[in-house]
Amino acid sequence: MDSSNLVGISEIADLAKVTRQVVSNWRQRYDHFPRPVKTLQSGPVWDREVVEAWVKNFKGEATHVLSFINLKGGVGKTTTAVGVAEILAQEERKHVLVVDLDPQTNASVTLISEERWAEMDKAGQTVAQLFADRLNPNDPPKFEIEKSIARGVSTINDGIARLDLLPSSIRLIDIQDRIPMIALSGNFTVNPLDILKHALQPVIDRYDYVIIDCPPSLGTVTKNGLRISTGYVIPTIPDILSTWGIYQIVDNVQRFADDIDRPIPSLGIVATKVQGNNLHRRVMDDLGAGRLGRFGEAGALPQPPLFANSIPQTVNVARGADVDADIRTFKGKYGTAYESIRGLAKEIKTLCETRKP
Ligand SMILES: Nc1ncnc2c1ncn2[C@@H]1O[C@H](COP(=O)(O)OP(=O)(O)OP(=O)(O)O)[C@@H](O)[C@H]1O
Ligand SMILES: [Mg+2]
Repeated sequence: MDSSNLVGISEIADLAKVTRQVVSNWRQRYDHFPRPVKTLQSGPVWDREVVEAWVKNFKGEATHVLSFINLKGGVGKTTTAVGVAEILAQEERKHVLVVDLDPQTNASVTLISEERWAEMDKAGQTVAQLFADRLNPNDPPKFEIEKSIARGVSTINDGIARLDLLPSSIRLIDIQDRIPMIALSGNFTVNPLDILKHALQPVIDRYDYVIIDCPPSLGTVTKNGLRISTGYVIPTIPDILSTWGIYQIVDNVQRFADDIDRPIPSLGIVATKVQGNNLHRRVMDDLGAGRLGRFGEAGALPQPPLFANSIPQTVNVARGADVDADIRTFKGKYGTAYESIRGLAKEIKTLCETRKP
């Protein structure tokens, strides 16, 4: 075990923001306080992650699970989700897990190399394997959550310590249509909407944020993400075609939330790939005033608010995987969009952390 991941009582007190005495009391009082991994001359030491998860759970700090959704493709869902996750982890020092639910695997190959992704895919360490296991209940399951989480991912600084990834796979295309049938087949009575929830249960307490990059649809895979979401974000280009389906998303998510009897509030709409033209300005005005399309009609659902930060169209983001781009720094990777992605991450953090549970 890496010794930097071991913590003593003083460090536990620091990370829990309590005194050493309080930590000693916890140890005595609670049987479920983690056991030390070994005792050094200086005293007992614990695995940092195990203790952090315990403290977080003990203090009742729920993990914020946010889905990034739009029915329209190519509107910047993945770019926004990954950028926000990177900033929350690197600059806000949060523990963040990115879950890639899109068979296009864009978030996965932005955060880990294609070689690494190919190895994980081959070894069944992706969400596609998670669902495939449930489709073939008579075969021994191959998916293991611990092995399927890539640690310290991102091109920024050659890896961000607190940022992890559960990758996707193109294999998901072949199986996604069969997932709704899972409950009807095999020996297990597993709700096909609860598959991701069950898989993440052992690890979710480690994270302050889980950011879910959804495919451009509201199928069973996206619903697996919504099932565990404490909120969602709608990235959209401020034009007619990209904003057209937003009413449908809000309406559908609301109905799904009613079905599962759990609120899934929209944190807001974020304008992406913004250019200073008249059309973009007009749609931004409508969004800012809360009267986008059908939202403006009598008796309609309220429009989610527009985030103050919008993401400009920049060459840095567009050139993406260009080998010449210095994608190891935020400025190199996002260019002038960096400040706005950073502002958005802060808005999201404030909304999550000040909202009543
Ligand atoms: N702010 C931006 N400036 C310039 N290009 C951008 C910006 N944001 C995203 N792009 C580019 O637009 C394309 C689509 O972006 P992205 O993959 O983030 O969208 P998406 O909504 O996740 O798409 P999909 O529906 O296919 O998953 C990509 O080529 C990306 O590099
Ligand atoms: Mg995407």
